[in-house]
Amino acid sequence: MTNRSQISAAVRQLYNTYPFPPEPLLDEPPPGYNWRWHWQAAYNFCTGRKPPRDDVQILDAGCGTGVGTEYLVHLNPQAQVTGIDLSDEAIAVARERCRRSGAQRVTLHNLSLYDVEQLDTHFDYINCVGVLHHLPDPIAGIQALASRLKPGGLMHVFVYAELGRREIYLAQQALALLQGGDRTNFKEGVRLGRQLFQALPDSNRLVVEDKRRWSLENHRDANFADMYLHPQEVDYNIETLFELIDASGLSFVGFSNPSYWDIDRLLGSDADLMGRSQQLAERDYYRLVELLDPELTHYEFFLSRPPLERCHWQEDATLRQATPEIHPCLQGWPSQSLFNYDYQIVTLSEAQFAFMQACEAGTSSVGDLCDRLEFDLEEVRSLLKQQLLMLSPSS
Ligand SMILES: C[S@@+](CC[C@H](N)C(=O)[O-])C[C@H]1O[C@@H](n2cnc3c(N)ncnc32)[C@H](O)[C@@H]1O
Repeated sequence: MTNRSQISAAVRQLYNTYPFPPEPLLDEPPPGYNWRWHWQAAYNFCTGRKPPRDDVQILDAGCGTGVGTEYLVHLNPQAQVTGIDLSDEAIAVARERCRRSGAQRVTLHNLSLYDVEQLDTHFDYINCVGVLHHLPDPIAGIQALASRLKPGGLMHVFVYAELGRREIYLAQQALALLQGGDRTNFKEGVRLGRQLFQALPDSNRLVVEDKRRWSLENHRDANFADMYLHPQEVDYNIETLFELIDASGLSFVGFSNPSYWDIDRLLGSDADLMGRSQQLAERDYYRLVELLDPELTHYEFFLSRPPLERCHWQEDATLRQATPEIHPCLQGWPSQSLFNYDYQIVTLSEAQFAFMQACEAGTSSVGDLCDRLEFDLEEVRSLLKQQLLMLSPSS
């Protein structure tokens, strides 16, 4: 057996012992929501426009027990969804989860990312959350996925960041030493790990950080094992992250948690430092942010296979001809106070509210509505920037 297949066997054994995530199965569609699993919202975030089609092919790569997969099915009623995972136990749970919640339009396969070419489909959207950092060869994994992404398609990736996981890394290494030779008895590993956290003084940094950040989820053995007993984990920093992205052959579109990357929240009180940060090249800017706020535990971002049309709506004539719709992920609409796509509260002015109500029919152009309601194009751009509206360009 090669080292790569030995590691993959240990990873499979971990997730066969503790299928992840260990969320309960429900007999109804899941109650929560995440806009990154909503095709229209993700596409609009990346391109500034409504996608041309909704009958898309979606891949959940490393779907685990199908929590994200189930959302992908329910949130995208015209999509066909495929889930793949290395662990047959996780796939069995994912099948049962989808069956019980009525998530049809999904096909699940016990298949490694490396072998994704065995699927004879190319995808419009690939979701790969919490997986690549567990591969012995993440570059081969992301390249395999990239080869299945259609031109103009999007990939959403989540991988671990080293700065905010330092204490986890230390605990993993310590536990491995205490475990000795056999590290694949994961139930015994959980027992020993819990014993270790009990034994350490309350003031110990590993204990303090575990209590502060992780104890809520780690009371479940599956979460504890996923965090502290993993046989394979690569944690990234901005430099190594972009090595992975560059090797994928895809284009970086942007982080899907942009508020973390807004340096204004860190240096906004000092115009000189703000100015210096704005002079930096893109990757140095990101590095500066993570150095100044090292709580970061993961990176989440979108990649695309060019060509990806991006609309900035700078030309008045183009904006006037476009057809606006209410963003599909607003909670509490219609109301002047509502939650946006990212669950942030938004308060609309009377004029904004009236304009958005007029957009609901989804038939008039921006220009017609602005003329009728005496609404300014700059106000439309502001609603677009806040992702309260979605536009379809005139054909
Ligand atoms: C932390 S879980 C994430 C599950 C799911 N993506 C989520 O976010 O809920 C990691 C999953 O990746 C799967 N995995 C690890 N290596 C894999 C590989 N080479 N091919 C496919 N799946 C893999 C594991 O079996 C496990 O189910």
